[in-house]
Amino acid sequence: MIFGLTDLELEKFYLILHPRPAYVIGSGSVGRDANFMAASWVTPVAEEPPLVGVAVDVESHTYGLINKYKEFTVNVLPFDKIEVIYEVGSSHGWEVNKLEILPGTKGKVVRAPIAEGAIGALECKVYDSIEAEDVIFYAGEVVQAWVDPEYFHMKRGWSIKNNPIPLHNWGRGFFQVGQFRKV
Ligand SMILES: Cc1cc2nc3c(=O)[nH]c(=O)nc-3n(C[C@H](O)[C@H](O)[C@H](O)COP(=O)(O)O)c2cc1C
Repeated sequence: MIFGLTDLELEKFYLILHPRPAYVIGSGSVGRDANFMAASWVTPVAEEPPLVGVAVDVESHTYGLINKYKEFTVNVLPFDKIEVIYEVGSSHGWEVNKLEILPGTKGKVVRAPIAEGAIGALECKVYDSIEAEDVIFYAGEVVQAWVDPEYFHMKRGWSIKNNPIPLHNWGRGFFQVGQFRKV
């Protein structure tokens, strides 16, 4: 024991880094094979060039589509959309047309879909990737960024009180950020 901490089995290490914002990744090409999936393993990576990373399961449909087009979107949906986030995160693009669950329209630069109801979105082109056995981590160069000015202040970022960005714990569990405090 160190400071009263106890061992966690290594295969569950990631739970320590949850809850994490739950986003929706758009892939494919609108009008052809566009798809959405939920993702909480998403992180900013660099400012120069602007890079965002997402860890994608190699068994997902999204993986094949990002490989094919080398593009994706990251969509920020608010807390009142957790059911639809969960739905696109628990079904596969080869069995359902996820754009019927969550409509999307082509980006300005990329062909991948931007989700209806998104309050923010990034359009990305694959810059590099790291392959593990079960996951590929794509670093995408952000080529276009969108925000809903009702919820986003250009200098201070998000100002969401009643309907914040959902935090995914695991499985069906989501948290909601409850407080904003300045230190
Ligand atoms: C809230 C939430 C977060 C998820 N985060 C990820 C993630 O970061 N990476 C990933 O590969 N799958 C993640 N998943 C699982 C995928 O969304 C799921 O496997 C989905 O069915 C893949 O869809 P596709 O086969 O159409 O690409 C998450 C699921 C949920 C519900």
